[in-house]
Amino acid sequence: MTFFWILGVTFRFASYYGDHMVLQKKPAGAVVWGYGEAGANVTVSLSKDSKVIMKKMAQVEEHSGTWKVVLAPTDHGGPYSVMAEQEEPKNLTLRDIYFGDVWLCSGQSNMEMTVSQIINASKELSEAPLYPYVRVFTASLIQSEVELQDLAKIDLEWSIPTAENLGHGNFSYFSAVCWLFGRHLYETLRYPIGLVESSWGGSCIESWSSGRVLQECGLTGEATPAVTSPTRGGCSSSCQFLLPTLLSGPKMPSVLWNAMIHPLLNMSLTGVIWYQGEANALVNTDLYNCTFPALIADWRRTFHAGSEGQTQSLFPFGFVQVTGSQGTDHGDRNRCSEPTADYGYAPNKRMPNTFMAVAVDLCDEHSPYGSIHPRDKQNVAYRLHLGARAVAYGEKGLVFQGPYPTKVVVDGARGLINVTYGQELLLLLMHDRIFEVRSMGLSAQEPCQWVPAPMVSASSHAVTLSSPGCRAAVTRLRYAWAEWPCEYRQCPLYNKHLLPAPPFVIDSALRTG
Ligand SMILES: *[C@@H]1O[C@H](CO)[C@@H](O)[C@H](O)[C@H]1NC(C)=O
Ligand SMILES: *[C@@H]1O[C@H](CO)[C@@H](O)[C@H](O)[C@H]1NC(C)=O
Ligand SMILES: *[C@@H]1O[C@H](CO)[C@@H](O)[C@H](O)[C@H]1NC(C)=O
Ligand SMILES: *[C@@H]1O[C@H](CO)[C@@H](O)[C@H](O)[C@H]1NC(C)=O
Ligand SMILES: *[C@@H]1O[C@H](CO)[C@@H](O)[C@H](O)[C@H]1NC(C)=O
Ligand SMILES: *[C@@H]1O[C@H](CO)[C@@H](O)[C@H](O)[C@H]1NC(C)=O
Ligand SMILES: *[C@@H]1O[C@H](CO)[C@@H](O)[C@H](O)[C@H]1NC(C)=O
Repeated sequence: MTFFWILGVTFRFASYYGDHMVLQKKPAGAVVWGYGEAGANVTVSLSKDSKVIMKKMAQVEEHSGTWKVVLAPTDHGGPYSVMAEQEEPKNLTLRDIYFGDVWLCSGQSNMEMTVSQIINASKELSEAPLYPYVRVFTASLIQSEVELQDLAKIDLEWSIPTAENLGHGNFSYFSAVCWLFGRHLYETLRYPIGLVESSWGGSCIESWSSGRVLQECGLTGEATPAVTSPTRGGCSSSCQFLLPTLLSGPKMPSVLWNAMIHPLLNMSLTGVIWYQGEANALVNTDLYNCTFPALIADWRRTFHAGSEGQTQSLFPFGFVQVTGSQGTDHGDRNRCSEPTADYGYAPNKRMPNTFMAVAVDLCDEHSPYGSIHPRDKQNVAYRLHLGARAVAYGEKGLVFQGPYPTKVVVDGARGLINVTYGQELLLLLMHDRIFEVRSMGLSAQEPCQWVPAPMVSASSHAVTLSSPGCRAAVTRLRYAWAEWPCEYRQCPLYNKHLLPAPPFVIDSALRTG
């Protein structure tokens, strides 16, 4: 038996290496790994036009039965073939391989939504063949209680995009936000882009987090996530009860980290985009300011280590600030998971090299998939790609975020508040309720409620509000801090690039004039 078992070890690439794939281009070296017979020597060669241009050797490790090479940093382009040989005549060849930038797209259903589900779907699908150098790959939905070394299953092998594989079905593959993001990057960079989708609708951030992240945020006392049950650390049943549309998502901590992220750690990549948070609107919401920055840091550390240092240790991480949904509550945005570690913008001190796409104005009341699934993914992806160009690709002077206040002056005598912005404003409309103020009450135990502060005038860089409130001094100001602050693309304040002013709450920065 043993004899056959040893002979039976298949010599193969890891699951996510395949024809048509994009390998990370220079300055990183692409990691290529796979399985073989313990102790055997493996030679990996890279060929172009049938000429071998690079050879790398590795030995199959005894304990894991795996081999791994790091290709020399290679400029973008192709097509190449990658051949791995163990003992002759065992060889395997990957064909139609390109070097370019590889991005991982993760999150929940708004990342999962396919191109066939979005606005102008047929037009977007018909344009798929125009982008043969944007290659797509989708991991299957798998949960595991232990960290897996490789993907157990794949929904979409590395593919050249077609209308069929981009619009496969509802919430399956391929992700519209991921696709449109990659397409924009391709249009800017003009070299191949590889898109790896690993997302699951209804998932809470705890499921995508390693035990280290959960522990850092006080969510589990257990060192190994393998045996955790849905206690405080898990996505509790409130997720199911209050958000029926999100019912389908996994509820256990770490199960998606284990099965859908950990296997990818060896891959060299450029960065990650993330569209998640809806499920955490009711689960550990107040902890999102810990879990999300901790997840970013953990993924950065582990992808860097897994790729033998080829993936940057501070790789760019982009995310979408979730849109509202017309659910049970139209009120307080405090109920939404806040992705910026409470800064209101990104990058920030706790989240360096990140970028955020604000989507607060892209709500979609009539979406057939529920208002929590807005169909305008074009603007989401466009805003995300601007962030990537500025933060990940260092494009100087590119404006990628909307106006944010730089100064707030309270003119107590006249009952006015002047909010100065760091960018020139494009005023779409005046709004009576979108700014709100809160004052200290007569005693600290009785703060006043949030009350609307109507916009009374605006200039190129400032908005003046009237401040009714209570008699005492205004101590906090917030903007668009509601689940549904305005209608589709009709928030009051944008910049001239049509990027919306992000929602904010300011407590301490207030100055009295
Ligand atoms: C692997 O290569 C090394 C030298 O590079 C050699 O010493 C060793 O015998 C080889 N192992 C096998 C199993 O061929
Ligand atoms: C790869 O293996 C096949 C047989 O499995 C053999 O015909 C072929 O010549 C080998 N190619 C190289 C480049 O070694
Ligand atoms: C990464 O590569 C090594 C081989 O160097 C392998 O043992 C391991 O299973 C791979 N996967 C992960 C997730 O580390
Ligand atoms: C996707 O959902 C829409 C809206 O509910 C429905 O009309 C369509 O038939 C669904 N498509 C598939 C492939 O299930
Ligand atoms: C996160 O937010 C909560 C609630 O607002 C606050 O109590 C906590 O100090 C914040 N934690 C971090 C790490 O910023
Ligand atoms: C959909 O297509 C129309 C017509 O080309 C265009 O005006 C509109 O901006 C598109 N919508 C989105 C969200 O891209
Ligand atoms: C607030 O703005 C108004 C209108 O722009 C201006 O007249 C007023 O002086 C400003 N007040 C303060 C305290 O800056």
